[in-house]
Amino acid sequence: MPLSSPNINVLIKACRKASKTLIRDFGEIENLQVSLKGPGDFVTASDKKVEKILISELQLARPNYSILSEEIGLIKNDEEFKWIIDPIDGTANFLHGIPHFGISIGLEHNKEIVCGIIYDPIKNEMFIAEKGNGSFLNNQRMRVSARSELENCMIVTGGPRHDSENRELALEEYKKFSARVSVPIRKMGSAALDMAYVAAGRCDGFWQRNLNYWDIAAGIILVKEAGGYVTDFKGNEDYIENKNILVSNSKINEEMIKLLK
Ligand code: IPD
Ligand code: CA
Ligand code: CA
Repeated sequence: MPLSSPNINVLIKACRKASKTLIRDFGEIENLQVSLKGPGDFVTASDKKVEKILISELQLARPNYSILSEEIGLIKNDEEFKWIIDPIDGTANFLHGIPHFGISIGLEHNKEIVCGIIYDPIKNEMFIAEKGNGSFLNNQRMRVSARSELENCMIVTGGPRHDSENRELALEEYKKFSARVSVPIRKMGSAALDMAYVAAGRCDGFWQRNLNYWDIAAGIILVKEAGGYVTDFKGNEDYIENKNILVSNSKINEEMIKLLK
């Protein structure tokens, strides 16, 4: 049975609508890439356009819910429910014409993420999850991987951005982690899709420092409902406050924590 509920249906409809603009604009990038100015401003405009469509769709369906969205910030309304939106996660890929980015939206209910969607419009991959009802990729149930030997795993990470706080620390962590194990570590450029890929069992673990709530909101529920672990680097649940997130299948969580120490 595919996942279907009133809020999930609202999410799917909003994403499908906004993705039309996103796909059209992505098609324009190639032309702009070779222009003198490059696609920079165009991408910023596209980001805002997509955000606007998402917000108006969500507000139409759920006028009382609050919204936290990357570009526009907080739209305060009912405290109980809040949509957490990243209109394009993987902007740098989008800007360079690399087809790996997505829309990410989570729904918070009393401070807990209860459902979420990450939609990769180019590959037409829709990752959705709802508390208690599982995680799905295009109607197929997702489970995290069962790999327990780190040697057989694929780990994803991202950053640090050139302007991020604790940049040195993040570089140090990466160096340490990669020196200690001989596993492929990938930086694919979209934290949201990284988390979706762990949920889908394609990758086995992901860690990153300094992520914002909109980068991870939907990913949290996707991973949890697929049977994975979501913690900070110490194994605690403060990952939203301290912005350091570690997600993995249930087998390698402890080992990843040790490796990041
Ligand atoms: C970024 C992506 C990237 C991560 C950055 C994020 P954006 O989000 O998730 O993978 O490394 O820290 O800011 O800017 O593309 O929405
Ligand atoms: Ca983001
Ligand atoms: Ca973004």
